[in-house]
Amino acid sequence: MDSFTATAARMTALRDDIAAHPERHRMLTGERPTGPLHLGHLFGTIQERVRLQDLGVETHIVVADYQVITDRNTLGDVRAHVLGAVRDYLAAGIDPDRTTIFVHSAIPELNQLILPFLSLVTEAELHRNPTVKAEAAVSGRALSGLLLTYPVHQAADILFCKGDLVPVGKDNLPHVEVARTIARRFNERFGEVFPEPEGLITDAPELPGLDGRKMSKSYGNAVSLGMSADETAAVIRRARTDSERGITYDPGSRPGVSALLDTVAVCTGEDPRTIADRLGGAGSAALKALAIDAVNGRLSAHRARRAEIDDETATGVLREGVERARETARRTLDEVRSAMGMDYGDRRGGTSGEGGSGILRG
Ligand code: TRP
Repeated sequence: MDSFTATAARMTALRDDIAAHPERHRMLTGERPTGPLHLGHLFGTIQERVRLQDLGVETHIVVADYQVITDRNTLGDVRAHVLGAVRDYLAAGIDPDRTTIFVHSAIPELNQLILPFLSLVTEAELHRNPTVKAEAAVSGRALSGLLLTYPVHQAADILFCKGDLVPVGKDNLPHVEVARTIARRFNERFGEVFPEPEGLITDAPELPGLDGRKMSKSYGNAVSLGMSADETAAVIRRARTDSERGITYDPGSRPGVSALLDTVAVCTGEDPRTIADRLGGAGSAALKALAIDAVNGRLSAHRARRAEIDDETATGVLREGVERARETARRTLDEVRSAMGMDYGDRRGGTSGEGGSGILRG
């Protein structure tokens, strides 16, 4: 059974349990700050995070800045992308009092988990990971050690807070599978510390980019959440369609037209076929005008809230998130070292307390 089929089979029971006992669950997910967040992020995952947060699940979001360099050499304007992501989270309804938002590079104790975790997977297992293979192929570069071990550091991201719910896109499920394996092997080898996390896949199908390919800023086929209404109109007008006047929904043979219909549909909650029927023979210019209105209408409140959040506010949210995440990571690292018999009572702020019998404490 592949990880998608296996996850789907467990999903219904899990969703029921989350609704009945949200306080028993912890969510961790996030993204790499490689560019501005776009419509696909909002509908694919950010709304799901807000939903879980509002249900009462303990929620964590990692802005995985170290992981920008898994498939490229340059970081780009990483700080701007980090702060932009924080703005989008808040504008979408993430409440920093209830959700811990932090950057990967600021949590040394989280990153230290990677070392024991690396001992729990073999090189062959890492080479078999389909997501790593695909990312390596797309990057067009030699496979770096960091990319090869991506699932291991992602496991540290998830397990540092004992996360058991990981909302991700389908193509990220093999990584979550590795996190499950690592949790299970750690517990078997050293003692019970970690839950086995579950990938949560949203019911919403993945929103394609405006040209029908995967939505990605590097293809220039994405509407960023932070764009102005005019910038949005410009990218949508540039989208490639075809010369047929009749509007029909057929992603296989009419990727451009169908992607625009999907875009309208996700904003208005209608079925793309209904929208196509209504447009009939109106042509792609009318479809684009409709898409521009739908997207700008759907995003106008988000953008207004986003514009209210300045750098100082975003930085303050991160600073607090980092503090909370570090505290959590310290506690987990303490447990890990204790489980491994490496408890020397030498840690500041550890849970072993002043009276610890550690050999370095005297
Ligand atoms: N790998 C994810 C992506 O590229 C980002 C990510 C980093 C992540 N750490 C994570 C997702 C932990 C879920 C859990 O989008």
